[in-house]
Amino acid sequence: MAQPTDGPATTRIDGIAKVTGRADYSADAVPEGLAHAVLVDATIARGKISRLDATEALKAPGVLAVLTHENAPALKKASAFPMGAAGHRRRPLQDARILYRGQHIAVVVATTREAARHAASLVRVTYQDEAPPEATLATGETKRMADLDFLSRAMSGDSHRGDPEAALATAPLVVDAVYTTARTYHAAMEPHATLAWWEGKDRLVVREGSQWVDGAQDTLAAWFGLKRDHVRLLSAFVGGGFGSRIAVYPHAALAALAAREVGRPVKLVLERAQVFLAVGNRPAIRQRVRLGADPSGKLTALVHESANETSRDSIYSEPGSRASVSTYTVPHYRAENSVAALDIPPPGWMRAPGEAPGSFAVESALDELAQKAGVDPLALRVLNHADADAHSGKPWSSRKLREAYALGAEVVGWSSRAAAPRSRREGHEWIGLGMATASYPSRQLPAEARVGVSRDGRVYVESRGVDIGQGTYTALAIVAAEVLGVAPAQVDVRLGDTRLPRSAMAGGSMLTRSLGTAVHGAATSLRDTLLDLARRTKGSPVHGRKRAALGVREGRVVALDAPSEGLDFAAIAAAWGDTPLAAFHRTHPTVLSRITGAMAFTSPAGIRTESAGDASIHSWGAQFAEVAVDEELGRIRVRRLVGVFDCGRILNPTAARSQMIGGMTMGLGMALMEGGHVDPRTAKLVNGDLGEYLVPVQADVPPIDVFFVGEPDPAAGPLGSKAVGEIGITGVAAAIANAVYNAIGHRARALPIDLRNS
Ligand code: MOS
Repeated sequence: MAQPTDGPATTRIDGIAKVTGRADYSADAVPEGLAHAVLVDATIARGKISRLDATEALKAPGVLAVLTHENAPALKKASAFPMGAAGHRRRPLQDARILYRGQHIAVVVATTREAARHAASLVRVTYQDEAPPEATLATGETKRMADLDFLSRAMSGDSHRGDPEAALATAPLVVDAVYTTARTYHAAMEPHATLAWWEGKDRLVVREGSQWVDGAQDTLAAWFGLKRDHVRLLSAFVGGGFGSRIAVYPHAALAALAAREVGRPVKLVLERAQVFLAVGNRPAIRQRVRLGADPSGKLTALVHESANETSRDSIYSEPGSRASVSTYTVPHYRAENSVAALDIPPPGWMRAPGEAPGSFAVESALDELAQKAGVDPLALRVLNHADADAHSGKPWSSRKLREAYALGAEVVGWSSRAAAPRSRREGHEWIGLGMATASYPSRQLPAEARVGVSRDGRVYVESRGVDIGQGTYTALAIVAAEVLGVAPAQVDVRLGDTRLPRSAMAGGSMLTRSLGTAVHGAATSLRDTLLDLARRTKGSPVHGRKRAALGVREGRVVALDAPSEGLDFAAIAAAWGDTPLAAFHRTHPTVLSRITGAMAFTSPAGIRTESAGDASIHSWGAQFAEVAVDEELGRIRVRRLVGVFDCGRILNPTAARSQMIGGMTMGLGMALMEGGHVDPRTAKLVNGDLGEYLVPVQADVPPIDVFFVGEPDPAAGPLGSKAVGEIGITGVAAAIANAVYNAIGHRARALPIDLRNS
C-alpha cells in the first residue's frame, strides 16, 4: 500500500537485463589474454607459516605464477574504517603470521581456472601452530570499547543519562536477561570476485561488485601507491551486498598484484566457502538487558550491555544499544559496548549492524516486561512511546509509529491474540502472535550527480553510486523524471564507474536519499537551463515567454497556460548545437565535508548524522509475526509476517516493498535458521557453505504484508525520503521469538531458535 504522496510504482529499469543474463557483473567479462587466480588459505587459526613450498604447483600445466609472503611485492598502508575503506587493517602476503583460519596465504595464477585450482592443491604448507585458538565469544575475554584506543572510544556507542542503577534498585518491576545471537553471513548470490588489469605501469582497472566505488578506488590507490584517479573502479551490477561490499577486502589487492605480476588481466572469483571467511560477517553477540518499570509497565530504567566477538587484528564493534538508545521514553539509561578479540576472521557490517541484533534483545526484554506487568505487549510500546529523541534531545522530524502499530495490529488480527501462552491450538500446533518495534536512523553523505539531455532528447543521469539490487537505477530515474517532466523510461542511468561524478556508499540505508538529493539538484538546474533555452529559441512555441510562465511536460518545455504545445528536448538540443545540455550538482550536507574535501567521499567523515539538524530523523516500523509451533517435532513455522513502515516519502513503492520483503525474510533466517557453527578446538567454521548454512528458501517464507504509512519528511531534504534498506530486518527476530512465547510459553533468548539453543 502506498501513500498518495509516494512516487510511481515502477518496475526496475535494469530488470530485463538481469533476468535475461545481459547484466554485466564483475566476473562476466572475458578480456583477451585473461588469466585466472585461485587463493590458498590458511588451515590453522593461530601461528605462522614455517615453510611454503610452491615447487610442484609451479610445475603444473598452465601455471603462470605463485605469489606468497616470500615473493609478493609490498603493499602500502591503506586506511581502514572509520577513516577509509580497507576491510582489514592487515595487508595480505606481507608476512608469515597467521591470525585466522581462511587467511589468504598464496595466489596461484594460471591460464584457466581449473589449472589454477589444481596447482593450488599442490602448494605445500607447514605451520608452526600456536594452539589452542580462541574462537568463541563464550570463552573469549571481553574489553570495553571505551578502554581501547581513541577511535574505538569515539565509536563505542556508549551512552549514559540519569542514574539507571539507582532506578533499577527501586523499580517495582525488573527484567534482567541475557540474549545471544549467532555469527551470521550475508550469503549474497554473487560470490565476491575481482577482475583486474593494468594499463601501463601505473594505471589499474578493477571490476569488482562494490557498495562503494569511491572507497575501493581510494584503498586500491593507497595499497599500490598510485594516484587516486589512476585507479578505475567499475561496478555496474552487484549480486547482493548487505554490507559485505562496503569495504574492499584483501582478495581485490591480490587480484591486482597477480595481474601486475603476469602482465595480463586476472580474474579471481572466491569459492563459496571462501566468501564465508573473507568479506566480514555479523559477529556473535551477547547482550544483557536490564529494564526497570513501574507496576503499569512504564519504563524508568534501561541498561543495555553488548559484547561481540572480533578478530585480533581489526576491531569491529556492533553496538546492540542502537536499538534501545532513543526508541522509548527512558529517563535513566546506560549503554555499554565491548568486544572480545579472537582467532577468527575480521567480522564486518551485515544488514542493520547494531539494530538487527539489538532489537532482538531489547524487544524481547520488553515482551518479558509486558508479561510481568500483565500488559498487552503492543500497549506497553504505546505506553512508553517517545515523543522526542532523548539521546539527542531533539524532536523527531516525523514519526508515524503509532499509525504503524495500529495498522499492523489490524492486519494481523492482534485483538484476537490470547494474553496467556498455550491458549490457541490448531491440530498438532500451538499458534502465537508477537510483535516488535523497528527503527533505523536516516543519515546523509555527500554525493555528486550529472544530469543531461542527449541529442535524441532522452535524459541521462550519471554518478559513481551503485545499484546493489535495491533499485538505485530506477530510483534515480524516477527523481530525474519527476523534475524534468518525462517518464522514468525516458531516463538512462549510468552508475558504478569512477570516471563519473563521486558518490556516497550504498550502505547505512543512505544512498537513495544522499544521491537522490544530488540528482534532484542537478535535474532542477538542468530544467532551468532548458526553460531558458526554449524561450530563446527562434520559432519555438514558447519563444519570448517569461521563464516563470514555463514548465516541463512530457519531454517538452511548455507554457503553463497553454501546455498542449511546446518545444521538445531534442529540438532544444538541435537548436543549441554545441551548448552542453547538462548540469552538475554536489551536496554538502556537513561543514566537515567542505573541510575534508575528497575524504568526504572516501571515508564516512562527511556523514550528516540523523540528529545533525534541528530534528532527529529516523525511519520507523512495526513488525508482527504469527507462528505455529509443533512441540512434538520441535518445529517452528512462521505463518505470517506483517511489516508497517514510516520511511518518509517512498520514491518507488515497488522497490521499497521488495526491500522490506527481503529484509523481513533475512530476519526470519536470523530468528530460526542462520548461525555459523564453530569448532572451538580448531576455530573451524564447520558449516561455511550454502549446503549447511541454512538461509530461508521459498518453502520457509510465509505470506509477507508490507505497508508504508510515512509522509514526505522535509527534514530529509527535497525528496522527503528517509532510510529504506535496513529497517526491514530490524525487529523481525524479536517479533518471531515473542510469537513463539505466546504460542508455547517458552522464552527463546538465543538465536537461532532451535533445539540446540533451547
Ligand atoms: Mo549495509 S550493512 O550498511 O550494507
